[in-house]
Amino acid sequence: PIEQRVDSILKLMTLEEKVGQMNQYNGFWEVTGPAPKDGQAAKKYDHLKKGLVGSMLNVVGVKDVKALQKIAVEETRLGIPLIFGYDVIHGYQTISPVPLAEAASWDLEAIKKSAALAAEEAAAVGLNWTFAPMVDISRDARWGRVMEGAGEDTYLGSKIGVARVQGFQGENFSSYKNILACAKHFAGYGFAESGRDYNSADVNHSTLHNIILPPFKAVKDAGVRTFMNSFNELDGIPATGNKYLQRDLLKGEWNFTGFMVSDWGSMGEMIAHGYAKDNKHAAELAANAGSDMDMESNVYVEYLVELVKEGKVKQEVIDDAARRILRVKFELGLFDDPYKYCDEKREKATLGNAVMHEGVLDMAKKSIVLLKNQNNLLPLKKSGQKIAVIGALANDKSSPLGGWRGVSKDGSAVSVIEGLQKYKGNEIVYEKGADVYLGTPVFGLETKINTTDKSGFDKAVATAKNADVVIMVLGEVGFQTGEGRSRTNLDLPGVQQELLEAVFNANPNIVLVLNNGRPLTITWADENIPAIVEAWQLGTQSGNAIAQVLYGDYNPSGKLPMTFPRSVGQVPIYYNQKTTGRPGPGGESVFWSHFIDEKNTPLYPFGYGLSYSKFEYSDLKVSNTSFTADGKITVSVNVKNNSNVEGKEVVQMYLKDLFGSVTRPVRELKGFELVSLKANETKTVTFTIDSKLIEFYTANNKWEAEPGDFKVFIGGSSDATLEGSFEYKG
Ligand code: IFM
Repeated sequence: PIEQRVDSILKLMTLEEKVGQMNQYNGFWEVTGPAPKDGQAAKKYDHLKKGLVGSMLNVVGVKDVKALQKIAVEETRLGIPLIFGYDVIHGYQTISPVPLAEAASWDLEAIKKSAALAAEEAAAVGLNWTFAPMVDISRDARWGRVMEGAGEDTYLGSKIGVARVQGFQGENFSSYKNILACAKHFAGYGFAESGRDYNSADVNHSTLHNIILPPFKAVKDAGVRTFMNSFNELDGIPATGNKYLQRDLLKGEWNFTGFMVSDWGSMGEMIAHGYAKDNKHAAELAANAGSDMDMESNVYVEYLVELVKEGKVKQEVIDDAARRILRVKFELGLFDDPYKYCDEKREKATLGNAVMHEGVLDMAKKSIVLLKNQNNLLPLKKSGQKIAVIGALANDKSSPLGGWRGVSKDGSAVSVIEGLQKYKGNEIVYEKGADVYLGTPVFGLETKINTTDKSGFDKAVATAKNADVVIMVLGEVGFQTGEGRSRTNLDLPGVQQELLEAVFNANPNIVLVLNNGRPLTITWADENIPAIVEAWQLGTQSGNAIAQVLYGDYNPSGKLPMTFPRSVGQVPIYYNQKTTGRPGPGGESVFWSHFIDEKNTPLYPFGYGLSYSKFEYSDLKVSNTSFTADGKITVSVNVKNNSNVEGKEVVQMYLKDLFGSVTRPVRELKGFELVSLKANETKTVTFTIDSKLIEFYTANNKWEAEPGDFKVFIGGSSDATLEGSFEYKG
């Protein structure tokens, strides 16, 4: 019936109204004030009343959403409701960990729940569309937006993308708590050359299909209803004007029936790319390539009608785009109740309520990764200790909110100090040591990183000297990652490394707590500091989560979703690299693939993370030596918790395809399970391998399983050594 209802509306629509559905505006006037009379805002207001707007972004709050929806529904000729989009990336007002941190949990149920809660809070303020999840794979920690994705791995990224979509969208939008998700950025954005945001992506065919596209395909199959294209060019063509990606692949081969929104201004940016000669040409290229909705380039509303009349864009292109957008509006239930998301009582009861806070706290604890714990320095003793807490980030109530922090207020996160102070048995003494940044954190913050002021060092050193344990909270400020926040240097920013070394000289009994939105080069810390906790940017409940982990009330189980390099020169560094023809080790020769001044291995590999429990792997068993196209084998392993502490372990299975029609990675994640183990308990974990699991995009330009020999590795990280082998006979 939805298609019939779409048909019946399409029949009534003029060309202008169809194009109107393809037009999205950013909130352009203070809805509670008088209607705009002049300039651009007045023009947009006029468009709104004429039914020439299909969607708005960045309008939040039931009052405003309702007011605009009322105009669309009551004042336009056909009364077609608007959809309201917003970047609910890791929460709306109550902020959960940045997505990269959530990915470190490898806990798909938790991630789904986190997205569901974010959707519920956003839906309560009138929103019905989030521009998330970002499913871009990235292997380059210099790229600021790694904080927004699930890291470097295609398999993990696909699973997490699906969990997020299911969380946001729920079951067919049957509930007012569910909103539309958007898979972005299609495609290649995470492969920006040298990690410089918006830079060209220069990727080969095999990488595109085997690494970049699978998470998009997975979320499409899971029912994501919108896609967003990207700012970068791919193969010389800006993604927004890329017909192969949007029309041939996504809407053709993959049969995607939802709609594609452009990225902000990305249609117009095709002029700067040197692909479109002017705005009108940009509209023509984007529409013909399959971009259905124009986010703030304003070129569709301006030129599409003319382009159709001139025969440069076919009427079918417009009909198809309008149909897709209307279809999704029907699916959301907006035609049945345009005010479905507009309930003041619900808004009041939902925003920042206790359920939200419990949810983000739970997710924050699950996201923490224990990187080092020499001599079991952690967990901390709960009484009788003098603890020095050092570092401006320990007292920072904004940075834990990270980038893309919704409408959360500056200062609304629980700081580490506040979290620690809830434990009364120890004496806590705080010293800042040094600011991370000078001034107020704003866009362009990176220019204000403190590289000079060390005036607080002496006090910090003196405080550390008198303490039993020192907790140093160091890393990046919240706005140092995210869009437009690429870095060439992955060290602790500013004077923090010097501060760490100065304090270390006074008291080496240090727990380093990292706050950051990307992998950092903490090689010195790894060599010298006994305990290191990766606490990312954990959102509103950050300090509570960190304190509970430091005191052992929560046993960490996170694993890195991105490789940590030893030095920035190793980047891009990722576990599923190719062997090359000269993999080494090269002995005395220099003629093998390596650096002469750095190891090839990372500081911490993908999948790595410790626990207060001690897990041991043994007895890897492959059920058979081979299997055929319609068969399968199983691989099992025993995992023992050889400690007195209950804990969780992410058991990971990697496959190595020994040869193929295109070269294959050294190993690839192909299964994982989050297992809970009581003290001293052993469990057998079993993975199934069938032909589907070993498929890849072959030299035949299709997904297929090639017969051959394989190795299988199982363990607690991507450098797992326990191995078995099997043959796939086809
Ligand atoms: O959703 C974002 C996108 O990821 C980057 N450009 C702006 C969009 C809307 O805010």
